[in-house]
Amino acid sequence: MNMEKMVNFCKNYGFIFPGSEIYGGLANTWDYGPLGARVKNNIKEAWRKKFIQERDNAYEVDAGILMHPRVWEASGHVSSFSDPLIDCKECKMRVRADNLVNDFTDSSKGDAMDDEELINFIRENKIPCPNCGKSNFTDVREFSLMFETSRGVTNDSKSTIYLRPENAQGEYVNFLNVQRTMRAKIPFSIGQIGKAFRNEITPGNFTFRTIEFEQMEFQTFCKEGTDSEIYNFYKNYGLEFYKSLGINPDNLRFHDHEKLAHYAKEACDIEYKFPFGWGEINGTHNRTDFDLSRHMEYSKVSQEYLDPETNTKYIPYVIESTCGLDRAVLAVLFDAYKEEKLENDTREVLRIHPFLAPYKVAVLPLVKKYHQDKALEVYKDLRKYFMTNYDETGSIGKRYRRNDAIGTVFCLTVDDDTLEKGVVTLRDRDTMKQVTLKLEEVKDYIEERVKF
Ligand code: GAP
Repeated sequence: MNMEKMVNFCKNYGFIFPGSEIYGGLANTWDYGPLGARVKNNIKEAWRKKFIQERDNAYEVDAGILMHPRVWEASGHVSSFSDPLIDCKECKMRVRADNLVNDFTDSSKGDAMDDEELINFIRENKIPCPNCGKSNFTDVREFSLMFETSRGVTNDSKSTIYLRPENAQGEYVNFLNVQRTMRAKIPFSIGQIGKAFRNEITPGNFTFRTIEFEQMEFQTFCKEGTDSEIYNFYKNYGLEFYKSLGINPDNLRFHDHEKLAHYAKEACDIEYKFPFGWGEINGTHNRTDFDLSRHMEYSKVSQEYLDPETNTKYIPYVIESTCGLDRAVLAVLFDAYKEEKLENDTREVLRIHPFLAPYKVAVLPLVKKYHQDKALEVYKDLRKYFMTNYDETGSIGKRYRRNDAIGTVFCLTVDDDTLEKGVVTLRDRDTMKQVTLKLEEVKDYIEERVKF
């Protein structure tokens, strides 16, 4: 499955549509359709279960997208959240210098270089422009990724505010609120699912890099000295999370950072093997006491924690585990999509984890004329418990194929035996095997197989 095919698959089956399509689209924006929205929400639920519900002392917040501008000064985003850009003097194409070096060397060498090293390397190796093939670039300029907007009505009272480029700051500024109201003892964690915005100059690869995206971020506040153990725990916990979503472990790997941000002690990405190469889907970072120290400095509000056992105060360290939700959806779809040869046929099948599947069951009357009423009755009952599809058009074979392609876990056929004996057949998407069940057994049977 290549990227072009995935884009078409998502559009044709109602997973993801181009943004503002009837106006010709807005570059690199995408809208989740009815099935994509289901997958996305199911991944959120899976994350919530693993990171909030099943963890000790973990709390979810839902902070604002718009925050006080000083937050972004304290975090360092206003001064240094930027990409190193160069322009081709021949064709005017604008590219990221670090990506150019990475692609040329087939490594992440560019990530560890500063602006001067980047342009020197590009010039020494005469790296060609991806558009015109010549090698004649400007010096590197840093391009801010912050999305600016303004508040206030009149021009002279307007002030600049930013759409948040990450969720994390909403968790840091609520450290004290959560600690106090939840009577939380360190180590404890604050997680959040929400939108983030970045003025990416070279977005692309479908939903992999966009200007508006969603993150599932999780910050664990801990005592210095316990930080590396917690960091290693969450690095592995992140990997296990993606495996638990049904992703093939061969398509996942760690990428430990060589160049660390000035505040970071340890950092590692989890990467997925996309058709365009390995791409980051998660980051685990040991951020030390940088974040809370900076907020203490900029807000003048103490961020110290009073240790009730030792009666001493300290600024906690933060271990961050951040998952890109849109990238998780994309990885799950790539991993699940299969084209299979059958005896006399082929089928497209989305072997997605049952918990993530948009529909758990499709109810199909064998012959519309005879079985529709009963099928509708079964459908109306099952949809109280599961996302249920109802499909009465075309042959049973065609309806199976349609539901296989969108990952529907079971197809339930209503036929004469249902009318006469109260039994139905349930066909499994993956094995294509059928079982016969009494109607009253169906709910428990499905429930058991779609849980997470
Ligand atoms: N708070 C830390 C932070 O934001 P990051 O590595 O910049 O770290 C975290 O972003 C995750 O967000 C990434 O691992 C990736 O999955 C996702 N992400 C980042 N930029 C993105 C973009 N432009 N489009 C889609 N997802 C993105």
